[in-house]
Amino acid sequence: MSKKIILSGIQATGRLTLGNYLGAIDNWLTMQEEYECYYMIANLHSLTVRNDPEVLKNNTLKILATYIAAGLNPEKNTLFIQSQVSEHAELGWILDCYTYMGELSRMTQFKDKSQKHSDNINAGLFTYPALMAADILLYQADLVPVGEDQRQHLEITRDLAERFNKIYGETFVIPEAYVRKESARIMGLQDPTSKMSKSATNLNDVIFLEDEPEVILKKFKKAVTDSENKVKFDPENKPGVSNLMQIYAAITNKTMEQIEQEFDGKGYGDFKITVANSVIEKLKPIQDKYQELLNNKEYLEKIYLKGAQEAKKIASKTLRDVKDKIGIL
Ligand code: TYM
Repeated sequence: MSKKIILSGIQATGRLTLGNYLGAIDNWLTMQEEYECYYMIANLHSLTVRNDPEVLKNNTLKILATYIAAGLNPEKNTLFIQSQVSEHAELGWILDCYTYMGELSRMTQFKDKSQKHSDNINAGLFTYPALMAADILLYQADLVPVGEDQRQHLEITRDLAERFNKIYGETFVIPEAYVRKESARIMGLQDPTSKMSKSATNLNDVIFLEDEPEVILKKFKKAVTDSENKVKFDPENKPGVSNLMQIYAAITNKTMEQIEQEFDGKGYGDFKITVANSVIEKLKPIQDKYQELLNNKEYLEKIYLKGAQEAKKIASKTLRDVKDKIGIL
Protein backbone atom coordinates (compact mmCIF):
# COMPACT_ATOMS: atom_id res chain seq x y z
CA MET A 1 0.00 0.00 0.00
CA SER A 2 1.33 3.45 -0.82
CA LYS A 3 2.08 5.90 1.97
CA LYS A 4 -0.43 8.57 2.95
CA ILE A 5 0.42 12.07 1.82
CA ILE A 6 0.97 15.04 4.10
CA LEU A 7 1.21 18.69 3.12
CA SER A 8 1.61 21.74 5.29
CA GLY A 9 3.28 25.13 5.28
CA ILE A 10 4.08 28.34 7.09
CA GLN A 11 3.85 31.88 5.76
CA ALA A 12 7.12 33.68 5.21
CA THR A 13 5.94 36.80 7.03
CA GLY A 14 7.53 37.75 10.36
CA ARG A 15 9.55 35.73 12.83
CA LEU A 16 8.44 32.22 13.75
CA THR A 17 6.97 31.73 17.21
CA LEU A 18 6.67 28.96 19.75
CA GLY A 19 3.06 28.66 18.51
CA ASN A 20 4.28 27.86 14.99
CA TYR A 21 6.75 25.37 16.38
CA LEU A 22 4.41 23.50 18.73
CA GLY A 23 1.27 23.85 16.61
CA ALA A 24 2.93 22.84 13.35
CA ILE A 25 6.62 21.92 12.95
CA ASP A 26 6.90 19.72 16.05
CA ASN A 27 4.01 17.58 14.81
CA TRP A 28 5.53 17.27 11.36
CA LEU A 29 8.63 15.64 12.84
CA THR A 30 6.69 12.61 13.98
CA MET A 31 5.25 12.10 10.49
CA GLN A 32 8.37 11.87 8.38
CA GLU A 33 8.90 8.14 8.89
CA GLU A 34 5.39 7.02 8.20
CA TYR A 35 4.13 9.36 5.49
CA GLU A 36 5.15 10.99 2.23
CA CYS A 37 5.56 14.59 3.37
CA TYR A 38 5.57 17.93 1.55
CA TYR A 39 6.38 21.04 3.58
CA MET A 40 6.44 24.40 1.92
CA ILE A 41 7.17 28.00 2.71
CA ALA A 42 4.08 29.96 1.74
CA ASN A 43 5.75 33.06 0.33
CA LEU A 44 2.89 33.85 -2.07
CA HIS A 45 0.51 34.00 0.86
CA SER A 46 2.90 36.50 2.45
CA LEU A 47 2.09 39.02 -0.28
CA THR A 48 -1.33 39.61 1.25
CA VAL A 49 0.41 42.05 3.61
CA ARG A 50 3.13 44.55 2.68
CA ASN A 51 6.69 43.26 2.99
CA ASP A 52 10.13 44.67 2.52
CA PRO A 53 11.40 42.54 -0.43
CA GLU A 54 14.76 41.81 1.20
CA VAL A 55 13.11 40.80 4.45
CA LEU A 56 10.72 38.50 2.60
CA LYS A 57 13.62 36.79 0.82
CA ASN A 58 15.50 36.37 4.07
CA ASN A 59 12.46 35.08 5.92
CA THR A 60 11.90 32.48 3.26
CA LEU A 61 15.39 31.09 3.83
CA LYS A 62 15.06 31.41 7.59
CA ILE A 63 11.95 29.26 7.58
CA LEU A 64 13.64 26.63 5.46
CA ALA A 65 16.59 26.67 7.88
CA THR A 66 14.16 26.29 10.79
CA TYR A 67 12.48 23.29 9.17
CA ILE A 68 15.81 21.52 8.80
CA ALA A 69 17.20 22.64 12.16
CA ALA A 70 14.07 21.38 13.90
CA GLY A 71 14.73 17.93 12.47
CA LEU A 72 12.91 17.66 9.15
CA ASN A 73 15.25 15.55 7.10
CA PRO A 74 15.47 16.95 3.55
CA GLU A 75 16.16 13.45 2.25
CA LYS A 76 12.89 12.13 3.65
CA ASN A 77 10.67 15.19 3.20
CA THR A 78 10.11 17.41 0.21
CA LEU A 79 10.91 20.94 1.42
CA PHE A 80 10.09 23.66 -1.07
CA ILE A 81 9.14 27.27 -1.68
CA GLN A 82 5.57 27.79 -2.86
CA SER A 83 6.41 30.38 -5.54
CA GLN A 84 8.90 28.03 -7.19
CA VAL A 85 6.17 25.60 -8.13
CA SER A 86 4.07 27.77 -10.42
CA GLU A 87 1.22 25.24 -10.38
CA HIS A 88 0.16 26.71 -7.01
CA ALA A 89 -0.67 30.10 -8.48
CA GLU A 90 -2.34 28.49 -11.50
CA LEU A 91 -4.57 26.13 -9.57
CA GLY A 92 -5.19 28.97 -7.09
CA TRP A 93 -6.71 31.04 -9.90
CA ILE A 94 -8.79 28.14 -11.17
CA LEU A 95 -10.14 27.45 -7.69
CA ASP A 96 -10.94 31.16 -7.25
CA CYS A 97 -13.49 30.61 -9.98
CA TYR A 98 -15.15 27.84 -7.97
CA THR A 99 -15.17 29.69 -4.63
CA TYR A 100 -18.11 31.84 -3.57
CA MET A 101 -17.78 35.36 -2.15
CA GLY A 102 -20.16 34.32 0.63
CA GLU A 103 -17.95 31.52 1.88
CA LEU A 104 -14.82 33.67 1.71
CA SER A 105 -16.45 36.45 3.72
CA ARG A 106 -17.15 34.00 6.55
CA MET A 107 -13.43 33.27 7.11
CA THR A 108 -12.38 34.48 10.54
CA GLN A 109 -8.80 35.03 9.42
CA PHE A 110 -10.00 37.39 6.70
CA LYS A 111 -12.12 39.29 9.20
CA ASP A 112 -9.25 39.54 11.71
CA LYS A 113 -6.65 40.53 9.17
CA SER A 114 -8.82 43.11 7.46
CA GLN A 115 -9.37 44.71 10.84
CA LYS A 116 -5.64 44.74 11.56
CA HIS A 117 -4.69 46.05 8.11
CA SER A 118 -7.67 48.27 7.36
CA ASP A 119 -5.56 50.35 4.95
CA ASN A 120 -4.80 47.30 2.77
CA ILE A 121 -7.77 44.96 2.48
CA ASN A 122 -6.65 43.51 -0.85
CA ALA A 123 -8.26 40.88 -3.07
CA GLY A 124 -5.45 38.42 -2.25
CA LEU A 125 -6.33 38.56 1.42
CA PHE A 126 -9.91 37.71 0.48
CA THR A 127 -9.11 34.81 -1.87
CA TYR A 128 -6.26 33.51 0.31
CA PRO A 129 -8.14 30.26 1.16
CA ALA A 130 -8.45 29.28 -2.51
CA LEU A 131 -4.66 29.46 -2.88
CA MET A 132 -4.26 27.45 0.30
CA ALA A 133 -6.71 24.88 -1.09
CA ALA A 134 -4.57 24.69 -4.24
CA ASP A 135 -1.46 24.08 -2.09
CA ILE A 136 -3.12 21.10 -0.50
CA LEU A 137 -5.10 19.64 -3.40
CA LEU A 138 -2.19 19.69 -5.87
CA TYR A 139 -0.48 16.97 -3.84
CA GLN A 140 -3.63 14.92 -3.19
CA ALA A 141 -2.81 15.28 0.51
CA ASP A 142 -4.65 13.01 2.93
CA LEU A 143 -3.66 14.90 6.07
CA VAL A 144 -2.77 18.51 6.79
CA PRO A 145 -1.08 19.04 10.17
CA VAL A 146 -1.91 22.59 11.37
CA GLY A 147 -2.90 24.56 14.45
CA GLU A 148 -6.54 25.16 15.33
CA ASP A 149 -6.60 28.58 13.60
CA GLN A 150 -6.27 26.91 10.19
CA ARG A 151 -9.16 24.47 10.67
CA GLN A 152 -11.64 26.72 8.90
CA HIS A 153 -9.35 26.92 5.86
CA LEU A 154 -9.27 23.13 5.79
CA GLU A 155 -13.06 23.04 5.82
CA ILE A 156 -13.27 25.30 2.77
CA THR A 157 -10.57 23.22 1.04
CA ARG A 158 -12.70 20.13 1.55
CA ASP A 159 -15.79 21.94 0.28
CA LEU A 160 -13.94 23.07 -2.85
CA ALA A 161 -12.55 19.60 -3.52
CA GLU A 162 -15.97 18.03 -3.10
CA ARG A 163 -17.58 20.68 -5.31
CA PHE A 164 -15.03 20.09 -8.06
CA ASN A 165 -15.25 16.30 -7.81
CA LYS A 166 -19.03 16.48 -8.03
CA ILE A 167 -18.94 18.45 -11.27
CA TYR A 168 -16.00 16.75 -13.02
CA GLY A 169 -15.67 13.34 -11.35
CA GLU A 170 -12.98 12.13 -8.92
CA THR A 171 -10.11 14.59 -9.19
CA PHE A 172 -8.99 15.55 -5.68
CA VAL A 173 -8.46 13.57 -2.51
CA ILE A 174 -10.53 15.11 0.29
CA PRO A 175 -7.96 16.15 2.90
CA GLU A 176 -8.35 16.10 6.66
CA ALA A 177 -6.94 18.51 9.22
CA TYR A 178 -4.63 16.96 11.78
CA VAL A 179 -4.66 19.13 14.90
CA ARG A 180 -2.79 17.93 17.99
CA LYS A 181 -4.79 18.61 21.14
CA GLU A 182 -2.05 19.94 23.47
CA SER A 183 -0.62 22.38 20.99
CA ALA A 184 -3.67 23.27 18.90
CA ARG A 185 -3.75 26.83 20.12
CA ILE A 186 -0.83 28.26 22.07
CA MET A 187 -1.96 31.52 23.61
CA GLY A 188 -0.13 34.78 24.27
CA LEU A 189 1.86 35.01 27.51
CA GLN A 190 0.50 38.48 28.30
CA ASP A 191 -2.97 37.96 26.90
CA PRO A 192 -3.78 34.26 27.29
CA THR A 193 -7.22 34.79 25.78
CA SER A 194 -5.83 35.31 22.29
CA LYS A 195 -3.45 33.20 20.25
CA MET A 196 0.30 33.73 20.34
CA SER A 197 0.93 35.55 17.09
CA LYS A 198 3.91 36.69 15.01
CA SER A 199 2.33 40.11 14.70
CA ALA A 200 1.75 40.81 18.42
CA THR A 201 2.55 44.39 19.39
CA ASN A 202 3.60 43.45 22.93
CA LEU A 203 6.81 41.44 22.45
CA ASN A 204 6.45 39.89 25.91
CA ASP A 205 3.36 38.12 24.62
CA VAL A 206 5.35 35.99 22.20
CA ILE A 207 8.27 33.57 22.37
CA PHE A 208 10.15 33.81 19.09
CA LEU A 209 12.17 30.78 18.06
CA GLU A 210 15.18 33.06 17.77
CA ASP A 211 14.87 34.39 21.34
CA GLU A 212 17.96 34.00 23.51
CA PRO A 213 17.59 31.79 26.64
CA GLU A 214 17.63 34.85 28.98
CA VAL A 215 14.88 36.48 26.96
CA ILE A 216 12.77 33.33 27.06
CA LEU A 217 13.20 33.06 30.82
CA LYS A 218 12.30 36.72 31.30
CA LYS A 219 9.18 36.44 29.17
CA PHE A 220 7.95 33.35 31.04
CA LYS A 221 8.63 35.00 34.40
CA LYS A 222 6.42 37.90 33.30
CA ALA A 223 3.66 35.64 31.97
CA VAL A 224 0.20 36.55 33.23
CA THR A 225 -1.29 34.00 35.66
CA ASP A 226 -3.89 34.53 38.42
CA SER A 227 -4.03 35.01 42.18
CA GLU A 228 -4.87 31.41 43.17
CA ASN A 229 -1.26 30.22 43.12
CA LYS A 230 -2.36 26.68 42.21
CA VAL A 231 -1.25 24.85 39.07
CA LYS A 232 -4.54 23.47 37.78
CA PHE A 233 -5.80 22.97 34.23
CA ASP A 234 -8.88 25.13 33.80
CA PRO A 235 -8.71 27.11 30.52
CA GLU A 236 -11.92 29.00 31.25
CA ASN A 237 -11.05 30.37 34.69
CA LYS A 238 -7.25 30.08 34.61
CA PRO A 239 -6.27 30.81 30.98
CA GLY A 240 -2.71 31.92 31.77
CA VAL A 241 -1.76 28.93 33.91
CA SER A 242 -3.55 26.51 31.57
CA ASN A 243 -1.64 27.90 28.59
CA LEU A 244 1.68 27.43 30.39
CA MET A 245 0.60 23.88 31.24
CA GLN A 246 -0.25 23.28 27.61
CA ILE A 247 3.17 24.47 26.49
CA TYR A 248 4.84 22.27 29.11
CA ALA A 249 2.67 19.28 28.13
CA ALA A 250 3.44 19.71 24.43
CA ILE A 251 7.17 19.78 25.15
CA THR A 252 7.44 17.04 27.76
CA ASN A 253 4.52 14.81 26.69
CA LYS A 254 3.30 14.85 30.29
CA THR A 255 -0.43 14.75 30.97
CA MET A 256 -2.25 17.58 32.74
CA GLU A 257 -2.71 15.33 35.81
CA GLN A 258 1.02 14.62 35.96
CA ILE A 259 1.78 18.33 35.71
CA GLU A 260 -0.74 19.18 38.44
CA GLN A 261 0.91 16.60 40.69
CA GLU A 262 4.43 17.78 39.86
CA PHE A 263 3.62 21.30 41.03
CA ASP A 264 1.27 20.40 43.87
CA GLY A 265 2.04 22.72 46.80
CA LYS A 266 4.55 24.74 44.74
CA GLY A 267 4.00 28.33 43.69
CA TYR A 268 3.83 29.84 40.23
CA GLY A 269 7.44 31.05 40.48
CA ASP A 270 8.86 27.50 40.35
CA PHE A 271 6.35 26.48 37.74
CA LYS A 272 7.18 29.33 35.35
CA ILE A 273 10.91 28.68 35.61
CA THR A 274 10.45 24.97 34.92
CA VAL A 275 8.28 25.69 31.86
CA ALA A 276 10.80 28.27 30.62
CA ASN A 277 13.68 25.83 31.04
CA SER A 278 11.84 23.11 29.14
CA VAL A 279 11.36 25.54 26.24
CA ILE A 280 14.97 26.74 26.40
CA GLU A 281 16.27 23.17 26.36
CA LYS A 282 14.03 22.22 23.47
CA LEU A 283 15.00 25.26 21.39
CA LYS A 284 18.74 25.44 22.12
CA PRO A 285 19.90 22.69 19.70
CA ILE A 286 17.49 23.97 17.06
CA GLN A 287 18.87 27.51 17.42
CA ASP A 288 22.47 26.30 17.11
CA LYS A 289 21.75 24.25 14.00
CA TYR A 290 19.69 27.11 12.56
CA GLN A 291 22.59 29.56 12.75
CA GLU A 292 24.88 27.03 11.13
CA LEU A 293 22.43 26.50 8.26
CA LEU A 294 21.87 30.21 7.70
CA ASN A 295 25.59 30.57 7.18
CA ASN A 296 25.42 27.96 4.44
CA LYS A 297 23.16 29.54 1.82
CA GLU A 298 24.48 27.22 -0.89
CA TYR A 299 23.23 24.19 0.96
CA LEU A 300 19.82 25.80 1.51
CA GLU A 301 19.61 26.63 -2.19
CA LYS A 302 20.38 23.04 -3.11
CA ILE A 303 17.59 21.81 -0.85
CA TYR A 304 14.92 24.17 -2.11
CA LEU A 305 15.76 23.66 -5.78
CA LYS A 306 15.59 19.90 -5.36
CA GLY A 307 12.38 20.29 -3.35
CA ALA A 308 10.73 22.37 -6.07
CA GLN A 309 11.69 19.83 -8.70
CA GLU A 310 10.17 16.96 -6.73
CA ALA A 311 7.07 18.92 -5.82
CA LYS A 312 6.53 19.96 -9.43
CA LYS A 313 6.37 16.35 -10.57
CA ILE A 314 3.25 15.73 -8.50
CA ALA A 315 1.75 19.21 -8.82
CA SER A 316 1.98 19.29 -12.61
CA LYS A 317 0.17 15.95 -12.90
CA THR A 318 -2.75 17.18 -10.85
CA LEU A 319 -2.91 20.50 -12.66
CA ARG A 320 -2.88 18.76 -16.08
CA ASP A 321 -5.77 16.57 -15.00
CA VAL A 322 -7.71 19.61 -13.75
CA LYS A 323 -7.09 21.54 -16.97
CA ASP A 324 -8.18 18.60 -19.10
CA LYS A 325 -11.37 18.31 -17.12
CA ILE A 326 -12.33 21.99 -17.32
CA GLY A 327 -11.34 22.52 -20.93
CA ILE A 328 -8.13 24.50 -20.66
CA LEU A 329 -5.82 23.66 -23.55
P1 TYM B 1 0.75 30.50 9.58
O1 TYM B 1 1.97 30.87 8.85
O2 TYM B 1 -0.07 31.58 10.20
O3 TYM B 1 1.07 29.47 10.71
C1 TYM B 1 1.81 28.28 10.44
C2 TYM B 1 1.34 27.15 11.31
O4 TYM B 1 1.49 27.47 12.69
C3 TYM B 1 0.25 27.27 13.37
N1 TYM B 1 0.14 28.25 14.45
C4 TYM B 1 -0.19 27.94 15.71
N2 TYM B 1 -0.49 26.77 16.28
C5 TYM B 1 -0.78 26.79 17.60
N3 TYM B 1 -0.78 27.92 18.36
C6 TYM B 1 -0.49 29.12 17.81
N4 TYM B 1 -0.47 30.22 18.55
C7 TYM B 1 -0.17 29.17 16.42
N5 TYM B 1 0.17 30.16 15.57
C8 TYM B 1 0.35 29.57 14.36
C9 TYM B 1 -0.81 27.47 12.29
O5 TYM B 1 -2.02 26.87 12.63
C10 TYM B 1 -0.14 26.83 11.10
O6 TYM B 1 -0.32 25.43 11.13
N6 TYM B 1 -2.37 29.69 5.81
C11 TYM B 1 -1.31 29.12 6.58
C12 TYM B 1 -0.09 28.75 5.76
C13 TYM B 1 -0.43 27.83 4.64
C14 TYM B 1 -0.75 26.45 4.74
C15 TYM B 1 -0.98 26.00 3.40
C16 TYM B 1 -0.88 25.56 5.81
C17 TYM B 1 -0.45 28.16 3.33
N7 TYM B 1 -0.80 27.06 2.59
C18 TYM B 1 -1.34 24.70 3.15
C19 TYM B 1 -1.24 24.26 5.53
C20 TYM B 1 -1.47 23.84 4.23
C21 TYM B 1 -0.87 30.14 7.61
O7 TYM B 1 -1.04 31.31 7.44
O8 TYM B 1 -0.20 29.62 8.66
